Amino acid sequence: MNAAVMGIDVGTGGTRALIIGERGQILASAAEDHQPFASPYVGWAEQHPDDWWRAAQIAIRKALRDSQLSAGQISCVGFSGQMHGAVMVDGDGKVVRPALIWCDVRTQKQCDDLTSQIGRERLIDLAANPALANFTLTKFLWTRENEPQNWRRVRHVMLPKDYVRFKLTGHPATDVADASGTLLLDVSRRAWSTEILAASGIDRSILPELFESPAVCGQVNSNGAEASGLAQGTLVVAGAGDQAAGAVGMGIVTPGAVSATIGTSGVVFASTDRPTTDAQGRLHTFCHAIPNRWHVMGVTQAAGLSLRWLRDTFFQGCAKSGSDIYHHMTEEAAQAPAGSGNLLWAPYLMGERAPHLDPDVRGALVGLTASHTRAHVIRAVLEGVAFSLKDTFQILEAMGIPIERVRLGGGGARSALWRRIQSEVYGREVEIVAAEEGAAYGAAILAGVGAGLWPSVDAACESAVRVSERVMPDPNHVAVMSAQYQRYRRIYPAMKSIYSS
Ligand code: XUL
Repeated sequence: MNAAVMGIDVGTGGTRALIIGERGQILASAAEDHQPFASPYVGWAEQHPDDWWRAAQIAIRKALRDSQLSAGQISCVGFSGQMHGAVMVDGDGKVVRPALIWCDVRTQKQCDDLTSQIGRERLIDLAANPALANFTLTKFLWTRENEPQNWRRVRHVMLPKDYVRFKLTGHPATDVADASGTLLLDVSRRAWSTEILAASGIDRSILPELFESPAVCGQVNSNGAEASGLAQGTLVVAGAGDQAAGAVGMGIVTPGAVSATIGTSGVVFASTDRPTTDAQGRLHTFCHAIPNRWHVMGVTQAAGLSLRWLRDTFFQGCAKSGSDIYHHMTEEAAQAPAGSGNLLWAPYLMGERAPHLDPDVRGALVGLTASHTRAHVIRAVLEGVAFSLKDTFQILEAMGIPIERVRLGGGGARSALWRRIQSEVYGREVEIVAAEEGAAYGAAILAGVGAGLWPSVDAACESAVRVSERVMPDPNHVAVMSAQYQRYRRIYPAMKSIYSS
């Protein structure tokens, strides 16, 4: 073995450590679950950063053991993680309070205050995005207003994956791709926005240093080495938020390339060569994990989360382990026809981002009759999530963003039925890539570029990312899905009229 690098993805459900060799081949992959997020009130979502660090230590040690490499053979570590989470740390490096994570939407008041202070248009000029309750800055402002005793102790703020790197290196750092989701970054200039910092009264000194994603930003220190089993002095790169890293892992790096990834959230992601914004702010415009490149993406809050909710609420005890239940559920769903007998699912379990930007909307199962079975319900959930992602495809087309090929990622790419449903709902051929680890694989590629295995992210993707399968939609089913999608579009206005704040 000449050289190996590691990617660590700090997700919502768990942390994965992945080791790849110099041709991009996977040598080991290990994961450890997190505690589920706590949601003590509607719209709240919190996780403890030390639980991510616990899971990271276990996953790193397991991946090292399974690879049969010595720690010294890992030349660089890259990171990826759930975006937007507000991690607040005191002067001794201790976590001040649990992190408010990406799907926590308690901060509408802080969004409204910021928007009236800076002005919606000026905010979009600076941050390329409007104030949304998911974005990190609004979570800091909530803490400052509601828990002043906690906020007074904060000396460093960071994003979820950055906390794991901080534990390994002792130094706070972040990257421009993940920082784009804080609302504190001037996304066009790829630098912290002095104007937003001043307007929101956030002290620049608590923010981490900024790097481009494949840049080396530190090395593992003795404490980090002892805790994780990595070698002291191992280089680390900045990495990226899970969506940009996942896009790298799927080769979504140049304009025309688009991915649809269903993890806990669902994301349609398009790479662009300049910052392109949707005037209505329905899609996010962020820096890509590649210098001088950007991306736009639309986010469904509860994509895989819809299926997990269905599993946890109604299917416990149906099979032996968690993943077996998903298999059992999608097999059952395959018995229902395309269109689920006109049953519709609107996946607004945690409010919705694209295209509605509405933290208050609620989910719905619409159109039930006495002849519907469990199979119809499961299939309707799979279809409803795909309809929600299709909303973003529609906006991309209206923005004139090229869509030349579509690759699927996450759990939505692993199920044969969900792949077919997506291809038929989007009305396009879809591709599946061979390395299905997505964000962890992208993080490892970024580490490989930092370590000099490849000269650039483009070159790395060219040599490492392979398409393993293509799915063509059945034209009859495309017509059924298109009619169902038109019905689906009418659910949001109806739900808004019932549940608007
Ligand atoms: C992206 C987003 C989610 C999280 C969790 O904007 O909020 O995709 O990164 O995966």
